[in-house]
Amino acid sequence: MCGIVGYIGYREAYPIIIKGLQRLEYRGYDSAGIALYDGKNINLSKTKGKVVDLQKRAEQEISLKGYIGIGHTRWATHGVPNDVNSHPHYSNSEDLVVIHNGIIENYAPLKKELQSKGYVFTSDTDTEVLINLIEYVQKNENLKLGKAVQLALTQVVGAYAIAVFDKKKPNEVIAARMGSPLAIGVGEDKKEFFIASDASPFIEYTKNAIYLEDGEIAVIRVGKDIKLRKIADDTLLDPFIQALELNLEQIEKGGYEHFMLKEIHEQPNAIIDTYRGRMLVNEGIIRMAGIDNHLERFLNADRIIIVACGTSWHAALVAEYVIESLARIPVEVEYASEFRYRNPIITSKDVVIAISQSGETADTRAAIQLAKQKGAFVFGVCNVVGSTISRESDAGAYTHAGPEIGVASTKAFTTQITVLILIALKLAKAKGSISNDEYFTHLQELERIPAKVAEALTSDENIKTIAAIYKDSPNFLYLGRGFNFPVALEGALKLKEISYIHAEGYPAAEMKHGPIALIDEKMPIVVIATKKGHYEKVVSNIEEIKARSGKIIAIVTKGDVDVKALADHVIEVPDTLELLSPLLTTIPLQLLSYHIAVMRNCNVDQPRNLAKSVTVE
Ligand code: M6R
Repeated sequence: MCGIVGYIGYREAYPIIIKGLQRLEYRGYDSAGIALYDGKNINLSKTKGKVVDLQKRAEQEISLKGYIGIGHTRWATHGVPNDVNSHPHYSNSEDLVVIHNGIIENYAPLKKELQSKGYVFTSDTDTEVLINLIEYVQKNENLKLGKAVQLALTQVVGAYAIAVFDKKKPNEVIAARMGSPLAIGVGEDKKEFFIASDASPFIEYTKNAIYLEDGEIAVIRVGKDIKLRKIADDTLLDPFIQALELNLEQIEKGGYEHFMLKEIHEQPNAIIDTYRGRMLVNEGIIRMAGIDNHLERFLNADRIIIVACGTSWHAALVAEYVIESLARIPVEVEYASEFRYRNPIITSKDVVIAISQSGETADTRAAIQLAKQKGAFVFGVCNVVGSTISRESDAGAYTHAGPEIGVASTKAFTTQITVLILIALKLAKAKGSISNDEYFTHLQELERIPAKVAEALTSDENIKTIAAIYKDSPNFLYLGRGFNFPVALEGALKLKEISYIHAEGYPAAEMKHGPIALIDEKMPIVVIATKKGHYEKVVSNIEEIKARSGKIIAIVTKGDVDVKALADHVIEVPDTLELLSPLLTTIPLQLLSYHIAVMRNCNVDQPRNLAKSVTVE
């Protein structure tokens, strides 16, 4: 969950690494560090805090010269965030230096063994153990750095993406991966190489990248081909150089105060990008190669199991309602972290859909590995192109939302729902479980959704006013029913993660089985009360809240008068089909949490304790 960046080439490494770390800061941001090789010495600077703190410190304390360097932005696993535990870490001789994203699970016995051989440790990290193990192996076996790293890694249990540099061998950097993502940018004529957790740090320098697979190690030397091997058996591999589609504009704020706000506003276009080329409304066709090529697997499936975490899990819940209602295939939704350990019953007649924005979430990866072992067909719905889950799935569909940098997921959620609606409609058509009319009505309305999302975004000022009234409330309750129950959960999660206000999402009717006890005149309750579906029932729930003096913030269909008469505040969204309504009702909840967080001076894009991509258990 940390971010790593490395450079070897002909340019000054410092600015490349600092800018790269800033772009990767969404992955972890409790401390940061850099090591630069100036042709003679390694100059290392690290600090608790953000990359901007590192910059101030490094510029004061070390020489910033050098064409080789490695940098790190941390999300602490072993050892509190402080200067000493920050990366990079030296080996005891200070010849070797490493950056690491992941967890070395067997670090304790390895540390003990190294201590018995005289190694001394200054930090509490597993990473310092790893670099000293590499040094020990290198010296003991008299090996070249690449071989020493490889041999040391065979003794390690856990996850890693690492870059290692040895000042005795200053023409190379070694990179290796197991469980944590790692990309190598290949510069023109191999005159320079970049190493990073994702491609964003090097996008302006090269569009050519090699994504390491688990269990691979690369020896990177300027002017030479990358030597890629399997760590376990030393097999020499042919590196596959992929052309990147990412551009610089996509990873910058583009005039918005925060990435989250930019990403909220990108949703109309992101949804268009999701269905573009797939949904041919006039012809009544949905083209999705991942489904077309495996249609029988889906149609003959006993059930679909959807595994995911966090916001993606909420999208899975929406999908459960949508797929069951349109395609009449039984759907079960599972937290990937629970599914992987509870010995679930899975058969080869199950289809497992894994939803993950990053495509790197450790629990979701483990869940699909389990499903594959048991013979299920695995379909990945990911946003990050080339990500691990997208590669490890049997088939899949990208959401095409573009990079999502804000830690709080926004456009990933609505585009995941869009993909899953397309899948449900496609399966329903193939099964004949909906009428032609119903099918066309859904396609036509889905095509109108981006414009309606844009209209929903115009409620911003109204939402800001409401945010100002409730920004200091210690608790919030979110209620929704049917397709909008998962939206209530998502609204509560958004508020919790970026404003640190306690919030709970509930199915509206469940309120009277417990949460109603919380309601008093101070409690804001966000109720999704759009027309259609269970409107009258939700209105009754609103009456129940009103009777207990709760403060009602209602998300209503444009023109609604009944709820308006009852609620303290209303936020309107355009009318749509019930099944598509989560794509609209989500928008005001995202904006509400955003404005409350800004008013509470919270770090919206990098909320405390969180990381964008959870690549550890
Ligand atoms: O990359 P993924 O979709 O697999 O990530 C899953 C969760 O970690 C993620 O949705 C998390 O809950 C977000 N912070 C929510 O805003």
